Amino acid sequence: PTTREFEFTIQPLSLTRICSTKSIVSVNGIFPGPTLYANEGDRIIVKVTNRAQYNITIHWHGVRQILSGWADGPAYITQCPVQTGQSYVYNYTLTKQSGTLFWHAHETWLRGTVYGPIVIYPQKRYPFVSPYEEHVIILGEWWKANVEDVETAALETGGGPAIADAYTINGLPGPLYNCSSTDVFVLKVKRKKTYLLRIVNAALNTELFFTVANHALTVVETDGDYTKPLPTNSILLTPGQSTNVLIKTDQPIGRYYMGASPYMSARIPFQRVPTLGIFEYENAPSSTLPTMPTFPASNDTNTAMQFATSLRCLNRHETYVERIPRKVDKSIFITVGLGTKPCDANRTCTTNITASMSNISLILPEIALLQAYYFNISNVFSADFPDSPLNPFNYTGSPPNNFTPESGTRVNVIPFNSSVQMVLQDTSILGVENHPIHLHGYSFYVVGQGFGNFNESTANFNLVDPPRRNTIGVPVGGWAALRFKADNPGVWYMHCHLEIHTTWGLATAFIVPNGVGPGQTLPPPPPDLPPC
Ligand code: C2O
Repeated sequence: PTTREFEFTIQPLSLTRICSTKSIVSVNGIFPGPTLYANEGDRIIVKVTNRAQYNITIHWHGVRQILSGWADGPAYITQCPVQTGQSYVYNYTLTKQSGTLFWHAHETWLRGTVYGPIVIYPQKRYPFVSPYEEHVIILGEWWKANVEDVETAALETGGGPAIADAYTINGLPGPLYNCSSTDVFVLKVKRKKTYLLRIVNAALNTELFFTVANHALTVVETDGDYTKPLPTNSILLTPGQSTNVLIKTDQPIGRYYMGASPYMSARIPFQRVPTLGIFEYENAPSSTLPTMPTFPASNDTNTAMQFATSLRCLNRHETYVERIPRKVDKSIFITVGLGTKPCDANRTCTTNITASMSNISLILPEIALLQAYYFNISNVFSADFPDSPLNPFNYTGSPPNNFTPESGTRVNVIPFNSSVQMVLQDTSILGVENHPIHLHGYSFYVVGQGFGNFNESTANFNLVDPPRRNTIGVPVGGWAALRFKADNPGVWYMHCHLEIHTTWGLATAFIVPNGVGPGQTLPPPPPDLPPC
């Protein structure tokens, strides 16, 4: 293992997409931001210098951050933002991890443009045929407006955010939008080879189906953990998820569109223009029109669920694979969903949506939770986030009264090294919806998923080869059961990776105290930790 140093300068960048030009916040003036390549075990040192007009933090999404919680990045959870003109050095090790992850801004909605891939090469050979080439495909959303203004507007109207003006592949919308015929990502391939595509969904608010015309995909990894090979025509990625697929160039020489199209479980089917890139065989005549793929419909929950529940972890390849917890020391049941709240005096809205976990809508504190916890600063949070929702949950009966959930900064304490089971249950308060829930500091096994009300006695759990992830799409009107061992002390955020829902409060945090053994103590913060 080596030490890899990077400089990230947060700076404005002027970009033209779909007929209009705007200034975005970027890293190093490139968009999407730089790819961080490393080997498993490497130490990563990224000096982030903020030369933009917004305060910012960077989060290394999916990096376990073992004993390095100060480098995790979510604003007001593990650190206060890096102010304009200031810098902060993120320092962490890629311990026992390989695969495709990504980094993104973790303050307000800046991750709408501030994101880039993380590629970690494994120490051991791949457990599949070694690919001829590897390519990263990072999916995103593009608004003509400034993403901060999209956020402000959503909060002011009390409704949902404006739907993105375009979806993007590696920052490019593809040919189906206005003024966009040349903003197309082209991947040149040779016939009769196997390629590895490392696909990430960095969108703010949209789950996406990804597919390549006429080509089968074989999933081999999700969120940085190997899977049993899963052949499929399309894959689903929620914001925050990454998936590696093998693709064989076994079709006639030609040009094929690849692309991404939304999955929106809460909406009636509707047409959104997909983002397209070109999968182009060597010697294909450039005049030929690429073949168009078929995308699942925007409300195709069957395909989404079928895909999510077909994934299996490859649990014998890695020596470090964590055992799947069989017995549970700490069980937490969390409802996730949207509700309403009355408009407060200074807002001009008629309805105002809020979102909550277990009927508690998170209010971010003004001092980072990790600092408050580490230095025993009182009145920042209360350590009483409940193990089951404030209002008893009943999916099929009358909805529990959480139209006006409580708000607060309440965190749950998980004893060090306990085996945790966490059941996430979607609620039907304001329409059911698939919520991609992301946990910081851990990957978890998804031991069960289903529609309807979670029922401990009838739920079917896979304790043999459940997929391991860091972000789980809780099925629309359904539940997901997760298991992991709480072996990483720190304060860890958990939130919906649909940014609008996090903004509305669909989030909480967990404290995992230090253990008593050697190597079980979180070190003190680095001296340059931004002041609050
Ligand atoms: Cu990718 Cu807390 O986020």
